[in-house]
Amino acid sequence: MAAKKPKNVIDRMLTLELVRVTESAAIAASKHIGHGREKAADQAAVDAMRRELNYLDINGEIVIGEGERDEAPMLFIGEKVGTGKGPKLDIALDPLEGTTLTAKAKADAMTVMAMARRGALLHAPDVYMDKIAIGPGYPPGLIDLDVSPKENIARLADAKGVAMKRIRACILDRPRHADLIRQVRECGVSISLISDGDIAGIIRTTEPSTGIDIYMGIGGAPEGVLAAAALRCIGGQMQGRLVTTNAEQKGRAKRMGIKDVHAKIPLEGMVGEDVFFSATGVTDGSMLAGVHRSGKVKTTHSIVMRSSSGTVRWIRTRHGPGFNKKESN
Ligand code: FBP
Repeated sequence: MAAKKPKNVIDRMLTLELVRVTESAAIAASKHIGHGREKAADQAAVDAMRRELNYLDINGEIVIGEGERDEAPMLFIGEKVGTGKGPKLDIALDPLEGTTLTAKAKADAMTVMAMARRGALLHAPDVYMDKIAIGPGYPPGLIDLDVSPKENIARLADAKGVAMKRIRACILDRPRHADLIRQVRECGVSISLISDGDIAGIIRTTEPSTGIDIYMGIGGAPEGVLAAAALRCIGGQMQGRLVTTNAEQKGRAKRMGIKDVHAKIPLEGMVGEDVFFSATGVTDGSMLAGVHRSGKVKTTHSIVMRSSSGTVRWIRTRHGPGFNKKESN
């Protein structure tokens, strides 16, 4: 008797296709590590990601990409990708998360992408988002953007059964966070201040070995949705709220379907069910090793996840000399 086919065979196959996309983008961007060329590094990742996406048998549409149609020539919001033959999917991507990290050869640059059934990803405009996130295993509704940093930390410490001074927060090192940093330090909490890369900052809350318990502060809204996609797969809690500073930004959010631009957005409001997430390290980082080269061989390190099964795969790939020969990587 033939073995019973598992459900969602297409989805299962896509998991590995997805990682090829982030791997190619990481290899392309890695040629620019440490050369001080943010734009060139980003462009290399964009080109590789777009090329790989267009090989896939999907009917894909970019919902979070390099920007809106008039400002981004490639991977713009609304661009169709894939052969058009497969399932209808929404795609959120950040071809190079940490352009400055790459240009300066600093830790934690990576290529990131999420895919979900049409309509399952928040269409977030390229504005800021206030974010708060913790890892899995806590009572639902533990953290809340509407209470003070001190209250969130007290709730977390209580749920974890430790003193507040045993909590470590991750915050983007920006002048706009001076007051937040002061309030968090007043609780005796240790802070990991990151120069860039809040997708990794948020994902680090899900992995006890990183020592990060909570992520707080304002970063990009597109990065917020991508981090939410990862949390939907690994577990964890997150809330976001768009930070719009003028009528143009508010109008843009509304045109993208966000009715109340001041509303607190729960994790489930950013990413619906059944999402895939893939990230590949560009530079060595706390979560993923970067692209390593030895002669003509490149090695990449990726994390690929799928929310419906909760599977998290850590993929170390050796790309032989034949890898994308035509594209001369
Ligand atoms: P880039 O990859 O575009 O450089 O973005 C990196 C990043 O640090 C994000 O992780 C973060 O969400 C955002 O920039 C913060 O924006 P800003 O640098 O304007 O504070």
